[in-house]
Amino acid sequence: MLASYLPRGSQAMLFIPSLKGLWTRAMLRGVHYRDSFQRIDMLYMIPDPWNLDNPQERFRYQETNRLIRNEFGHVTRLLEVGCGEGYQSQYLAQVCSQLHGCDVSTRAVERARKRCPNSTFSVGTLGDILVHQAELYDLVVACEVLYYIDDVLDAIQTMSRLGTSCLVTYYQSHQDRLDRIITPLELGDRAIIRNGDSTWIAVWWRSDRLRRVQQDRTDSQSQSS
Ligand SMILES: C[S@@+](CC[C@H](N)C(=O)[O-])C[C@H]1O[C@@H](n2cnc3c(N)ncnc32)[C@H](O)[C@@H]1O
Repeated sequence: MLASYLPRGSQAMLFIPSLKGLWTRAMLRGVHYRDSFQRIDMLYMIPDPWNLDNPQERFRYQETNRLIRNEFGHVTRLLEVGCGEGYQSQYLAQVCSQLHGCDVSTRAVERARKRCPNSTFSVGTLGDILVHQAELYDLVVACEVLYYIDDVLDAIQTMSRLGTSCLVTYYQSHQDRLDRIITPLELGDRAIIRNGDSTWIAVWWRSDRLRRVQQDRTDSQSQSS
């Protein structure tokens, strides 16, 4: 671990904004679409590496909550995949009765537990939740997470097995790549969240719809062969 090589006192240097930017860029190099969980946990050696505690992101949290309220009403059990340090969890907890957050980073989950003491959190992936879950969640949410997952299609299918409904959001710079995977699934609804120059895409679906579309495709493939 880098921290153990740093001379005494230099960990504090990581909190100086310019060094924080350098650290974040170095840690994020090559992690996209890779399941690089160790690198992401190292990234969390500094607090809030993605700068998620700022007005721009708070706007996104509020808009995501508005969308959830409009589309799903008050949710009973909500799973937040990739909860990070719990910034968005604080908002999602307002639209549900029980929030469970999961993240691959132990460091992030420790902070999320402190930030949101009334919610529950676990360290792990979607697959880990699938192994341990007893009942379906009403809504499974993955915001700004798909870019760090190797098999995005598998993640969407696993989300759909974990919950009655699902919602993902992703930033404009990843839209082309993620739309190529998501649009052919015919999941249904999408909206744009826009704040100044920043745009996020929100896509949500009922899990039985995804299963139906996939079953129809399997049926038509077997009929044509
Ligand atoms: C950019 S942060 C987003 C945090 C929060 N969802 C938000 O939108 O503000 C991405 C988070 O996803 C987590 N993550 C990446 N891959 C994951 C996976 N396969 N399962 C669960 N969490 C994952 C990372 O550790 C990180 O905390």
